[in-house]
Amino acid sequence: MKFFIDTANLDQIKEAQDLGVLDGVTTNPSLMAKEGITGHKNILNHYIKICEIVDGDVSAEVISTDFDGMVKEGNALAKLHPQIVVKIPMILDGVKALRNFSDKGIRTNCTLIFSVGQALIAAKAGATYVSPFIGGLDDISTDGLNLISEISNVYDNYNFNTQILAASVRHTMHIIDCAKIGADVMTGPLSSIKALIKHPLTDIGLEKFLADYKKGN
Ligand code: E4P
Repeated sequence: MKFFIDTANLDQIKEAQDLGVLDGVTTNPSLMAKEGITGHKNILNHYIKICEIVDGDVSAEVISTDFDGMVKEGNALAKLHPQIVVKIPMILDGVKALRNFSDKGIRTNCTLIFSVGQALIAAKAGATYVSPFIGGLDDISTDGLNLISEISNVYDNYNFNTQILAASVRHTMHIIDCAKIGADVMTGPLSSIKALIKHPLTDIGLEKFLADYKKGN
């Protein structure tokens, strides 16, 4: 399973990259605003900075909601850097834009996926990634992980190439359960990735090894 980090914070992206397990980055307009990155030019420059830190795919979201606007924005984003994947919302004009980009060989991430039907349409339109929001579904008492399983079954039935990018991941169990189901990618906060490393028995065991070493030296 590929590990993406869901942030526009350069320090956190660098820390995840230095850990050696990072495969890419997802951003969205809210994450950009959280870092105080505003204005078209600053946002584009920020995408380039992110691409220079990581080796993998970097999702950059369009803010237009009409077909022509999305295509214009997406073309410009794709030209920014070879690692950019154009992030398109799951709306009617978004589906047309996915097809347009797919036909041109521009990679896409279809975002705001909350149902199997939406994931099926995105795959048929040629999306490179689909982003089902599992934490967002859990928030409204709907099983987000079940959606990952259902999409996975449907994609397997027809050998779709679209990769399932489990988004809105909030904690370690989301990551572990996505891995058990076989999601292609997960995107979550740095804290959820680092929390996978921790185990009290590891700490206790290491402490004992080091204490025993000191006794003998
Ligand atoms: C995915 O690419 C999105 O940025 C994301 O995971 C949003 O999650 P949230 O709605 O839980 O913040």
